[in-house]
Amino acid sequence: MRIVVLSGAGISAESGIRTFRDAGGLWEGHRIEDVATPEAWQRNPDMVLDFYNQRRLNLLQSHPNAAHLALAELEKTHEVHIITQNVDDLHERAGSTKILHLHGELMYARSSGETGFRLRLDDGLMHAGMRCPDGFPLRPDIVWFGEPVPMMDEAIYLTSKADALLIVGTSLEVYPAAGLLNFAPHGCGIWLVDPNRHQEKSAQGIRCIAEPASSGVPKAIAEIKEFYGKAGTHS
Ligand code: APR
Repeated sequence: MRIVVLSGAGISAESGIRTFRDAGGLWEGHRIEDVATPEAWQRNPDMVLDFYNQRRLNLLQSHPNAAHLALAELEKTHEVHIITQNVDDLHERAGSTKILHLHGELMYARSSGETGFRLRLDDGLMHAGMRCPDGFPLRPDIVWFGEPVPMMDEAIYLTSKADALLIVGTSLEVYPAAGLLNFAPHGCGIWLVDPNRHQEKSAQGIRCIAEPASSGVPKAIAEIKEFYGKAGTHS
C-alpha cells in the first residue's frame, strides 16, 4: 500500500517554524516581492540573503516533532512518499527517506547558472558575493514565486499512484502544489490534518482531522490503517 503525504508549513509549526499565512505568519512581516522572487534577488540580494539566513538559523535550533516522527515510523510498515512544500529538513532529520522538496531546500545554496552545483550551508549563513566553482553566483536553493517547480512531474506521478493521500498543514493556496490532490486516483482516500482549514474540504469528501499535526498525524495514520485493513487492501 502506497501512502503519499503532502506536507506544508503547518507540520513544522510545533517545531518552532512559523507558517506563512496564519496570524503572525512570515508573510505578515515580509513582502513576497521583497524576498521570494527572482526580481527581489536581482534588486536587493542582501535583503533576500538576510531573510533566508534568519530562516536557516531558526531551523538549526528546531527539531522534528511528533508528526514528522510518526511519518518516519510509518515507513517501517508501509511505502511512504513525502511531497513537501517545506524547505526545512525536519522530515529528513526525523528519519523519512523518500522526500521530494517541491520548493527547494533551505540548507542548500545552488549555482545561479543552472549547472546543477549545490552546496550544503552547514553554518546556516550565506554571504553576498559567494560564488561556486563554476564561476556563477551562488543563490539560495529555493523555488521562488514565478519560477518553475522542477519536481512537479514526479509529484504528480507519485500522487496518481497513491492508495491514500495524507495532506498536513497546508493552506492549499499556492499552485501548482495545491492542485496535486486533483491527481489522486479514483478510490484513493484523502485525509487532511489542519486545525483551521477543514470545513470547506470535508464537503469535498476529504476526511478532516481538525487538530495540530503532532496529534492529528498519528490519528490520521491510525485511521488510514484501519480503513485499508477493513477494505482488505494488503500493506
Ligand atoms: N498543525 C497542522 N497545521 C497547522 C498547524 C499545526 N500545528 N498550525 C497551522 N497549521 C496550518 C494552517 O491552518 C494553514 O492551513 O498550516 C497551514 C499553513 O499554511 P501556509 O502558511 O499557507 O503554508 P503552506 O501551505 O505550506 O504554504 C505554501 O507558500 O509562501 C509559500 O513557498 C511557501 O511552501 C510555501 C507555500
